[in-house]
Amino acid sequence: MNFSQNINKLKKEKNAVILAHIYQCPEIHSIADFVGDSLELSRQAAQTKADVIVFCGVHFMAETAFIVNPRKKVLLPDLEAGCPMADMATVEKLKEFKSKLKNPVVVSYVNTSAAVKAESDICCTSSNAINVVKNVVENFGKDIDIIFTPDRNLGGYIQKTSGIKMNVWNGFCPTHNNFILPEYVKIAKNKHPKAEVLAHPECRPEVLDLADYALSTGGMRNRVKKSDSKEFIICTETGILHKLQKDNPGKKFYPATDLAVCPNMKKIKLAKVYNVLADMKNIVSVPEEIRQKAYVPISKMLKINA
Ligand code: 13P
Ligand code: SF4
Repeated sequence: MNFSQNINKLKKEKNAVILAHIYQCPEIHSIADFVGDSLELSRQAAQTKADVIVFCGVHFMAETAFIVNPRKKVLLPDLEAGCPMADMATVEKLKEFKSKLKNPVVVSYVNTSAAVKAESDICCTSSNAINVVKNVVENFGKDIDIIFTPDRNLGGYIQKTSGIKMNVWNGFCPTHNNFILPEYVKIAKNKHPKAEVLAHPECRPEVLDLADYALSTGGMRNRVKKSDSKEFIICTETGILHKLQKDNPGKKFYPATDLAVCPNMKKIKLAKVYNVLADMKNIVSVPEEIRQKAYVPISKMLKINA
């Protein structure tokens, strides 16, 4: 079966839109209506006129799409595509943490469950995290105890860059934290001394120290476009490389390591996209009480630019 052709046919029949994270495979990008980072995808999900959103990404992203646009059917081609970092923050532990602080304000990375978002004051993605935290201080004042959940590397990066102290959760992304190691980045830099080094803030601090820029995946795309450099060492999930190469044919891209693969992102395949659209299955939703609470921090986040 030619899955791409059939998916395009079904898309029209069902008035569906396909949103794909930049870490997805080239075959998924080729059938997507929009490819972007977490923040861009949340914005697309909020404003789409389609009846159905097929989310080619991981579970929290599909959940966010439903939270901001509950009248749409949101389909996730593989319900097992989760995010281990999101699972590291539980609502029980967050409530316990909040109860121990005098004036807690919770900033949650979008890589969290809907239940954790429902217990949060504002969300952020890696592209607007610093602006979100500065906005929190402006709005809530300095006499607050910010809890940042769940990524310790992104949290540490925000603290270092903004000078704002936070209580940072001890979560991490296995792909960025465990596989993108400083020794690999040093080897790549020795091999390509003229290359600009771009690292995702989910990487360890020792990796960020070796980078020229710490950027979200969307930020990396923008930087590559406007930079005069011809070569780049990319410290994030390797799925981004084919897209960077396609969009910038005159430039060269080297992964810090080929090991930086997110197995969950890679669970999404063309056949699964076809199956969920054909059968309208794998619907992602959230109980209404939680959805309404989770909508508040997400909508605040969507007002803050990268
Ligand atoms: P972005 O916000 O840069 O798209 O990152 C999402 C993610 O899951 C990174 O691992
Ligand atoms: Fe989660 Fe890391 Fe995969 Fe992003 S790359 S979805 S943070 S496990």
